[in-house]
Amino acid sequence: MTKPPKRRAGVIGWPVSHSLSPALHGHWLKRYGIEGEYRAIPAAPEALAQTLLGLFEQGFVGANITVPHKEAALTLVEEIDEIARSIGAVNTVVIKDGILTGTNTDAYGFIENLRPFLKPEMKRALVIGAGGAARAVVYGLARHGFAQIHVMNRTYERAEELAAMDPRIIPIRWDHYQSVMETADLLVNTTTQGMVGERPLEISLETLVKHALVTDIVYRPLITPLLAEARRRGNPVVDGLGMLLWQAKPGFAAWFGVEPQVDDDLRQAVLHAMEQQ
Ligand code: ATR
Repeated sequence: MTKPPKRRAGVIGWPVSHSLSPALHGHWLKRYGIEGEYRAIPAAPEALAQTLLGLFEQGFVGANITVPHKEAALTLVEEIDEIARSIGAVNTVVIKDGILTGTNTDAYGFIENLRPFLKPEMKRALVIGAGGAARAVVYGLARHGFAQIHVMNRTYERAEELAAMDPRIIPIRWDHYQSVMETADLLVNTTTQGMVGERPLEISLETLVKHALVTDIVYRPLITPLLAEARRRGNPVVDGLGMLLWQAKPGFAAWFGVEPQVDDDLRQAVLHAMEQQ
């Protein structure tokens, strides 16, 4: 009997050498004894269409799409699902029966990372930022059942644009957040502020209620200045690495046919890969 062909997937980005996805999926492939491959696939913006076509021709089962290609991939795959359409970005492509289908698992990853800390009475969120990452976060929060999703952004017009996505989104101006913090159950940073090499977010947590959960989608460093300050005040905090781990799960399951576990072993493997960089 001939062996089935090795299933191959990867992550397309530019640059992509810093991506932790090969370590993440590599850990799962090893753990589940799957004869598969997952690698980094560098592609400049002008080469994205050709790269996706190349995956199809080489028999890949799919790919993750990362910065800066998530929006462009929307128009380059044959089909997109409702989630990718609403968020306006594709982060996962599944190739099946000769068709490239795009979805977005970032909202799922964001919610699953917070799930152990979310309570039914948590209804009001304050989201900082209105870029691509914010769209996925806001989509996830609306789907989860948050009743009021305040979005503050340096450029107010982008917060207004985001509000068109769902009636529960309330755009607020950059310096109008103090009163929202008094009643927020969840505070989320979706900007790149606080990331290694960037300045910390310039906001004050002075009015934030003590029970509010604080999370950051930045995970380099794991504890951003925002999370450190929230923790110092006694607010519960969740770091952003779990979102990366959880968003990978649906892709792996679709490509390799195994529902992988997101657990501490995986987190340690990815943290180790991060330390090696
Ligand atoms: P991504 O897809 O990663 O979210 P993006 O679409 O470029 O990236 O969005 C980046 C977000 O970080 C935006 O909300 C941006 O605010 P503007 O819309 O005003 O640009 C926010 N951001 C970037 N630098 C910032 C800074 N120095 N202070 C506050 N917000 C900042």
